[in-house]
Amino acid sequence: MDHWRLFLSLLYLSALHFLPSSCYRTIGYSRLLIDCGSSNETTTKDRDSITDTWRTDEEFIKSGKNILIAPNQNFNVMNTLRSFPDGNKNCYKLPLNSDDIKYLLRAGFFYGNYDGQSRPPSFKLEIDGNLWANVTTSMSQEDPVYHELVYRVKQDQATLCLVRTSNDEVPFISSIEAVEMDDSNIYRLMENKTALYLHSRINYGANKSVEKLIGRMEEEYDRIWESKEMSEYLNVTAEVIPNDSLLGENDPPWPVMATAIRAKNISDSIYLTVNFSSAQKTQVVAYFVLYFMDPTFFYPPNQTNKVDIYIDSQKLNTTDIPLFGRYDNAYSVVSLYPVRVFGSANVTISSTGNSTLAPVLNAMEVFSVMDVSKGGHMMIGFSIAFYAVLLHICFTILFFY
Ligand SMILES: *[C@@H]1O[C@H](CO)[C@@H](O)[C@H](O)[C@H]1NC(C)=O
Ligand SMILES: *[C@@H]1O[C@H](CO)[C@@H](O)[C@H](O)[C@H]1NC(C)=O
Ligand SMILES: *[C@@H]1O[C@H](CO)[C@@H](O)[C@H](O)[C@H]1NC(C)=O
Ligand SMILES: *[C@@H]1O[C@H](CO)[C@@H](O)[C@H](O)[C@H]1NC(C)=O
Ligand SMILES: *[C@@H]1O[C@H](CO)[C@@H](O)[C@H](O)[C@H]1NC(C)=O
Ligand SMILES: *[C@@H]1O[C@H](CO)[C@@H](O)[C@H](O)[C@H]1NC(C)=O
Ligand SMILES: *[C@@H]1O[C@H](CO)[C@@H](O)[C@H](O)[C@H]1NC(C)=O
Ligand SMILES: *[C@@H]1O[C@H](CO)[C@@H](O)[C@H](O)[C@H]1NC(C)=O
Ligand SMILES: *[C@@H]1O[C@H](CO)[C@@H](O)[C@H](O)[C@H]1NC(C)=O
Ligand SMILES: *[C@@H]1O[C@H](CO)[C@@H](O)[C@H](O)[C@H]1NC(C)=O
Ligand SMILES: *[C@@H]1O[C@H](CO)[C@@H](O)[C@H](O)[C@H]1NC(C)=O
Ligand SMILES: *[C@@H]1O[C@H](CO)[C@@H](O)[C@H](O)[C@H]1NC(C)=O
Repeated sequence: MDHWRLFLSLLYLSALHFLPSSCYRTIGYSRLLIDCGSSNETTTKDRDSITDTWRTDEEFIKSGKNILIAPNQNFNVMNTLRSFPDGNKNCYKLPLNSDDIKYLLRAGFFYGNYDGQSRPPSFKLEIDGNLWANVTTSMSQEDPVYHELVYRVKQDQATLCLVRTSNDEVPFISSIEAVEMDDSNIYRLMENKTALYLHSRINYGANKSVEKLIGRMEEEYDRIWESKEMSEYLNVTAEVIPNDSLLGENDPPWPVMATAIRAKNISDSIYLTVNFSSAQKTQVVAYFVLYFMDPTFFYPPNQTNKVDIYIDSQKLNTTDIPLFGRYDNAYSVVSLYPVRVFGSANVTISSTGNSTLAPVLNAMEVFSVMDVSKGGHMMIGFSIAFYAVLLHICFTILFFY
């Protein structure tokens, strides 16, 4: 009889082992925008009249001081910040969803000389105990410093910490954005236990950053596509620009795909240099995504555009470039990972033999791959499960005796 009871208890024990993730789940935010240091929640509307709520940070952190940089009639997320004069490490706990969902995480820093010292501080930013970035803030009155990741949340929570690296430099933060990317196939080559740290996301041939132009209908994930025109190349723009995003790999916004740079001659290539680190030539494992769709409308559509893609003189892909305005809205995305680079990388795009058009490039994203194998709060999850098991054993014993 005793053996039987012991067997039942063990059965409970093993059954409970599988329960915690489903039983102790809290509902996380699929879209969390935090205006750090603000005392009031604010709502904003984008071009499509979709409302966003910028929350205060009070429910996500207990330490630090709220600071208003400059009283301003117009709402601006960068007008307030939270600074951390005390303690070595101060952390936000962000309730988000795990289950293999990728998030875009973006931390914003706008110094604005809030302390009157004219000394923008440097400090470390960590995610779940892993180094995310060495933050160096600046005196710029226009551009905030952003650090962005594509990240899989563990155990329904992400812990974002600001870590002091020098006694006389006080860490601060202005904004936090966490946007769930509900397409599980997005950035599909990203591996488990890694995160993608954004190096650059460039919308070529455009004269205006796409974040300022579009709303959520076009850019579902709040990505910022910086504009870039280059004197060496033609800037080509489509005649009609749908206000929408394209359906397919990585869901690029139409306005991003509607502009491109084109080599001036079919025999010329597009050459781009990506600088990862200026000082030391350290090895980086990089993830490149190139987006192609020829913005020029041809009638009859008898042209073909096809390119070879090289990184540091190695041919890594060959792709057809669909023509803009084709009935099926086809575009081409080439994802290259892993690519090992030292300090900088040369990207070259050249026409293949039977292409009738000079090469084009619409957009390119470059990430460096980060190891995030540390982390989560596994121990808490484990101890909850452990106490639940103990409780059940107690009840089992009470019940049987
Ligand atoms: C917050 O709202 C209160 C009352 O509406 C207002 O007096 C105060 O100025 C607001 N604070 C900020 C930082 O906007
Ligand atoms: C951050 O700085 C430390 C030295 O302080 C360096 O070892 C590390 O490689 C840097 N990390 C990044 C991501 O820049
Ligand atoms: C990565 O994680 C997913 C979900 O947790 C899992 O299904 C998959 O097997 C993992 N892949 C590898 C290579 O470990
Ligand atoms: C940007 O390009 C568009 C389209 O070519 C043009 O109409 C506009 O004037 C340009 N704006 C600036 C600021 O150059
Ligand atoms: C593309 O735009 C840039 C910036 O305005 C300009 O310098 C360049 O000359 C343009 N290219 C052509 C071919 O007009
Ligand atoms: C897209 O939206 C802009 C601004 O609202 C508008 O000017 C433009 O005509 C729209 N384009 C299309 C194709 O609907
Ligand atoms: C394009 O390049 C070819 C070969 O280099 C040259 O013969 C031709 O004149 C060039 N065309 C233009 C428009 O520059
Ligand atoms: C990359 O670095 C090289 C050499 O330092 C410089 O000439 C080039 O302009 C840089 N390119 C970019 C895109 O920053
Ligand atoms: C495409 O058709 C146009 C008009 O018929 C013609 O002028 C052009 O040469 C053709 N282009 C190619 C690559 O066949
Ligand atoms: C990139 O190209 C430049 C100029 O052709 C060359 O000096 C440099 O060594 C190349 N870099 C790599 C990493 O191949
Ligand atoms: C080029 O990239 C596409 C999309 O990423 C992929 O399907 C294809 O297999 C690649 N081709 C080569 C030759 O690597
Ligand atoms: C391009 O050339 C290759 C062989 O040279 C041929 O097999 C292919 O059909 C051609 N493609 C087009 C679109 O003409």
